[in-house]
Amino acid sequence: MCGIVGAIAQRNVTGILVEGLKRLEYRGYDSAGVAVLGPDAKLLCRKTAGKVAALEAKLEQEPTRGHVGIAHTRWATHGVPNEVNAHPHTSDGIAVVHNGIIENHDALRRELRELGYQFVSQTDTEVVAHLVNYFIREKASLFEAVQAAIARLEGAYALGIISASHPDVLIAARSGSPLVVGVGIEENFIASDQMALRQVTDRFIYLEEGDLAEIRSGSYRILGADGTWQQRRTTRLSGNTGKAEKGKFRHYMLKEIFEQPEVLQATLSGRLSGKHVLAEAFGRDAVELLRKVRNIHIIACGTSYHAGLVARYWLEEWAGIPCQVEVASEYRYRKVVVAPSTLFVSVSQSGETADTLAALRSGADQGYLASLTVCNVPNSSLVRESSLAIMTEAGPEIGVASTKAFTTQLAALQMLAIVMARFNGLSEERENELVKALHQLPAVCRKVLALDREIEATFQSFAEKHHALFLGRGVEYPIALEGALKLKEISYIHAEAYPAGELKHGPLALVDDDMPVVAVAPNNELLEKLKSNLHEVQARGGKLFVFADSDAGFINQESVTVINLPHVPKSLEPIIYTIPLQLLAYHVAILKGTDVDQPRNLAKSVTVE
Ligand code: M6R
Repeated sequence: MCGIVGAIAQRNVTGILVEGLKRLEYRGYDSAGVAVLGPDAKLLCRKTAGKVAALEAKLEQEPTRGHVGIAHTRWATHGVPNEVNAHPHTSDGIAVVHNGIIENHDALRRELRELGYQFVSQTDTEVVAHLVNYFIREKASLFEAVQAAIARLEGAYALGIISASHPDVLIAARSGSPLVVGVGIEENFIASDQMALRQVTDRFIYLEEGDLAEIRSGSYRILGADGTWQQRRTTRLSGNTGKAEKGKFRHYMLKEIFEQPEVLQATLSGRLSGKHVLAEAFGRDAVELLRKVRNIHIIACGTSYHAGLVARYWLEEWAGIPCQVEVASEYRYRKVVVAPSTLFVSVSQSGETADTLAALRSGADQGYLASLTVCNVPNSSLVRESSLAIMTEAGPEIGVASTKAFTTQLAALQMLAIVMARFNGLSEERENELVKALHQLPAVCRKVLALDREIEATFQSFAEKHHALFLGRGVEYPIALEGALKLKEISYIHAEAYPAGELKHGPLALVDDDMPVVAVAPNNELLEKLKSNLHEVQARGGKLFVFADSDAGFINQESVTVINLPHVPKSLEPIIYTIPLQLLAYHVAILKGTDVDQPRNLAKSVTVE
């Protein structure tokens, strides 16, 4: 993870760097730092533990001015999150910011120590600063010194490097971690994500694997992995500056939960007619390709993995297509047997998750028919490297806990499942029913959001709890998983989810009057089975909280609290029942006083393994 920004201009770049860092805090917020080359090309470095706001405060006390600089917001991998371990790391006038992991840092550290270099931090990054320092003595330029240094690195990196001895150049290198060059007028920039630079430019070059860039204020050149100079395409982005505001909401997470009706509408727009999903809306080639698919592998992490688990039910039930779903960190390291005509599907909000990207790359030579990504960020690595992309239209998601990205992923995956089902014999009538239901989705979402106050009041008691169980059956089981993930992620309460039928195979032993059990209970064919499981909980003194269809026949009693949801078509249940679980987690986190948008130890985009 970590976010990096760099700038070279005719003006003071400190403000540009700090604004960029604020926009990159979703990538980590353990510490922050900035280094600029000030007057007389003196390296000025300011670092703090904690968030970018702390760095800003420090810069007010100890301002910096310079026309070239780099900056970093950290998600700690090597070394505790303190000021010493904060980036930039320096070596005699050279400063380095890094996103990724240098796997051979121990060996390099030993080697450099023998050469007389002294290390002050526990980070893997510091070796890069000393290596560049070592090579700069024998190379003509900073570019060549960095080229020699990165030839010694194993692992993943996006690097930004400046040097007091070469004050008119900024070097950027990408291998395994994203990096973009922002092109301005007589000024140029680098960043982990274009969003960091939208306030200064709308033109971007997405560096490719192995690229090394030499950037000056009025020019840039890029050396590709094959050792030849490259003309990379410049992409001009339209639209606003991408800066999301909280508006009237206390947290981004709450705002993003309440945005769901609109972003679901945006995700459906242009892809549905009155009665059909428009397969052509996925791209002309998509139609031809999807017709050939006989198997599907869905690969993702975290919340996006849960979306994949839901999609499996739809794909197998409606399209009759065998589907397996796996977390990317497992998939990438095992021998996978790929049957003929299998589609590789990745699901990701950011499009930069390291394990998901590595899974896509490892799948590339395994005989898949094609790769498709369900993704929220245009031009992200997953979008660029997949043969097909279905964009969710959730807009920027800032809260670390994924909310609107998840429900829009479900909407996109449902449309994909309907298209696949049509190619595999779904009746016209059934497709019409499913599409009619999708048209109702934004309105039903609004109705469920109106339960906010009731949910806030109902779950006050959770603030004192240390554990919670979430139960669901069938397609609601992944929704229970998602509910448990939301609660543990932002309230730090230990929460587990089980398919309700599994309870008696072990977890029931945990149930007592101190263990709240949350059940997801729409009125579908598994309702009676679920009710039996819930009786088992009640019989052991468990306290039940049931999100139930208003027609499901649950009654409030001493040990059972029922929150009634409107009756919705079965195909919408997973999307609709997610929303109250998001609100539950949010309100409990507020009571516990946690940092809702930036919970401890986490980052929004997980770009390291
Ligand atoms: O950007 P991605 O969807 O690939 O991210 C995957 C997970 O890191 C992410 O969903 C994570 O689990 C969320 N923080 C959960 O709320």
